[in-house]
Amino acid sequence: MKSYNIAVIGGDGTGPEVTNEAIKVLDAAARKFDLKLNYTKYDIGGERYLRTGEALPDSVLAEFRKFPVILLGAIGHPDVKPGILEKGILLRARFELEQYINLRPVKLYDERFCPLKDKKPEDIDFVVVRENNEGLYTGAGGFVFKGTQNEVALQESVNTRRGVERCLRYAFDFTRKRKKDKKLTLSGKTNVLTYAFDLWERAFHEIGQKDYPDIKRDYAHVDATTMWFVKNPEWFDVIVTDNMFGDIITDLGAMVQGGMGIAAGGNINPTGTSMFEPIGGSAPKYTGQGVINPLAAICAGQMLLDFLGETVAANAIETAVIRFVREKIKSLAAGKMGYSTSQVGDMVAAAV
Ligand code: IPM
Ligand code: MN
Repeated sequence: MKSYNIAVIGGDGTGPEVTNEAIKVLDAAARKFDLKLNYTKYDIGGERYLRTGEALPDSVLAEFRKFPVILLGAIGHPDVKPGILEKGILLRARFELEQYINLRPVKLYDERFCPLKDKKPEDIDFVVVRENNEGLYTGAGGFVFKGTQNEVALQESVNTRRGVERCLRYAFDFTRKRKKDKKLTLSGKTNVLTYAFDLWERAFHEIGQKDYPDIKRDYAHVDATTMWFVKNPEWFDVIVTDNMFGDIITDLGAMVQGGMGIAAGGNINPTGTSMFEPIGGSAPKYTGQGVINPLAAICAGQMLLDFLGETVAANAIETAVIRFVREKIKSLAAGKMGYSTSQVGDMVAAAV
């Protein structure tokens, strides 16, 4: 029997509620496919920070390195100033564990939940490969003359050949394995960001021409990309982009696939510890009411199993989610599902 160790960070707000349901469904898959899943829960988040002043202690980070995967609920607490937990926990884990890919599938399971007119599941099925360790997120920059009329604020976009190249290679490999249209779109801003996206564009074509001749290369400016997401989402197969653009376009991606209730992502280090999470936040106003949609966390669990190589078990979770979404759920929004958070978990687990 294959056995896997999983670190679990329920985190803030509704995070613990949705990770509980994800675990329920993972356990159903484990029973069916003879896997042993061992969970270690970590008390990380706003409450702990308020209690101890620690966001993500070095000792915990060191423990995380021993796990192949982490399941994360949500980070963000109304009593903690914005930025502290995001930088101290989420971004710190992404950077220190070198999770240099943020993989965000955008897949519509039922046209009832698509806000775009006349778009069907076959039209919305693409994946965004977001660079996750560089760009505007490194914290490089600073102030000059802070607080005066002459104040200067700099926020620098860091793009290294190594960082860009490993992201592009991951995206090319992913496009090849996905076997959909074998098309990779670079989303950038070559007309304005003439240093950063010059590097991205050169590396994209060099690598593509040399090592991935079977993959079609396509380019779209990021502003146009948002337009196509709405107008012609069926044009996309895999999109690769930098950290900031990837952050922005995947919120739009989440909406076209039915909203934050269903959107999941993976922070991936292909040879290290990867972390899977619902894309939505901690939703403090719904905390403890049993109304939050756990499907995004359940889909994060599916991605986690897939990363571990348990493709069949992962696919079984996806099939169960699709059936539940098509046949049972009334809405993907919190409080409107027609079921409570734990009922959704129970029903998807039963369908697995
Ligand atoms: C996301 C989030 C984070 C990001 C925030 C919470 C730091 O928006 O995962 O997309 O900007 O990456
Ligand atoms: Mn975001």
